[in-house]
Amino acid sequence: MYYSVIYQSKAQYNFTSKDIELMLMRAKQKNKKNNITGCIVYANDKFIQLIQGPKDAILKLYDEIKADDRHFDVVTLHNQ
Ligand SMILES: Cc1cc2nc3c(=O)[nH]c(=O)nc-3n(C[C@H](O)[C@H](O)[C@H](O)COP(=O)(O)O)c2cc1C
Repeated sequence: MYYSVIYQSKAQYNFTSKDIELMLMRAKQKNKKNNITGCIVYANDKFIQLIQGPKDAILKLYDEIKADDRHFDVVTLHNQ
């Protein structure tokens, strides 16, 4: 089943563009392998991200993302 999640979170520290670039490079590789697409916005020390793809893969990734200590106060805005 196709699934999507949108969440917001607060960055644990001030990400530089290099930090974002490195994180996205790894995320893009993994997402592609797992048929996941999405987009992410980083502004004012907050993230908003959409991830979408096969339900199992999305739930697994979302658990990993929630446990990631580079951000906190993860709030689900949409899951369907
Ligand atoms: C704001 C934020 C967004 C993230 N988005 C993704 C993502 O879209 N895909 C992904 O694989 N990892 C993403 N991550 C990283 C995961 O939380 C986690 O570190 C990663 O899945 C671990 O995989 P690895 O051990 O194979 O590198 C994100 C992390 C943060 C802080």
